[in-house]
Amino acid sequence: MSDALFNHPRDLAQGWYWLCASAELRRGQVKALRLLGRDLAVYRGEDGAVVALDAYCAHMGAHLAEGRVEGNHLRCFFHHWRYAADGRCDEIPCQPGTPPAKARVRCWPTAERYGLVWLWTGAEAAHGVPEVPELAGMECRSWRVSRFRKNCHPNVVLINAIDEQHFHSVHNLPGEVLQMQPLPRGTSNIEFHNVGKVPARNVWWRLIGRCYRNALTYNLSYWYGSTGFVTLGPDFLHCHILFALRRGDAGETQGCTVALTRRRSGLFGALFDRVVLALTAAVGAYFARGDTRVFQTIRFDLRTPIAADRAVLAFIRHFEQQPRADWQDGATDTAATRHLHPVAGADR
Ligand code: FES
Ligand SMILES: [Fe+2]
Repeated sequence: MSDALFNHPRDLAQGWYWLCASAELRRGQVKALRLLGRDLAVYRGEDGAVVALDAYCAHMGAHLAEGRVEGNHLRCFFHHWRYAADGRCDEIPCQPGTPPAKARVRCWPTAERYGLVWLWTGAEAAHGVPEVPELAGMECRSWRVSRFRKNCHPNVVLINAIDEQHFHSVHNLPGEVLQMQPLPRGTSNIEFHNVGKVPARNVWWRLIGRCYRNALTYNLSYWYGSTGFVTLGPDFLHCHILFALRRGDAGETQGCTVALTRRRSGLFGALFDRVVLALTAAVGAYFARGDTRVFQTIRFDLRTPIAADRAVLAFIRHFEQQPRADWQDGATDTAATRHLHPVAGADR
């Protein structure tokens, strides 16, 4: 197996990954979720906070999602050991006193943003869930547009949006319109800004050109090679789309598209936001559908890069320097390996 992180079938960059929609997890509900090869029991306690624990009970390995939520705790179905939100077992019904230190499962930091539940793949999150650069610090409205699957790695899906050549060959845009400039912003974040201008080649394009004082707005902010924000639209109204991606067990991409806008106040503001989100959703759905044929069959291998691939190469170079997630220890490839090598979460 190669040491490269890019397009890796198991390793992943440290970061926030989407788990499920917030609305899918009610108070008092527990769900079995599988994220990036790892089984989790995710629940929402009475206080409304989402807790993500490694799935298998420290006692005998029952899946904790078979159990029930009690207040802010999770009780295993099998012998009723009770777990606190930090993964510690704090009650063993048939044994008085404090449970042994080994009686714990790993717990993962979670957050909720843009109508999604997110999980950080390490002990402590290095930062909050990423934001759209233009909307940083603002309150947002979100609209979950769709879920989708692509038969390739999330890294490859993200590359599509910075692949200048294909906008010309697949989407029929004039070649000079999109020229993506890479702007690394930090260890886990790289932005790409379009510096290409709208050509004055006919009436239609001249009309479009009036909407842009400088370059045609098409800016991206990529995190962990898996989550991308796209900002586009005329100078007077920018649309923001979140593509939250993660890798499934078969190496496929499991994606979620969310339309975003800043929250405007008042009734009129709320109505206006609805319209903007509906427009954004239509654009987002087009993006999510785009190039599907290629993603079904591609075996990504950039053997012959040319000058027009420089944004793609910048993305790969930046991604390779990102810290790997502390995640594989405890991840299992298939249900079969899980039975052969039971995961004992207690020691971690
Ligand atoms: S397996 Fe969970 S309490 Fe026994
Ligand atoms: Fe495309």
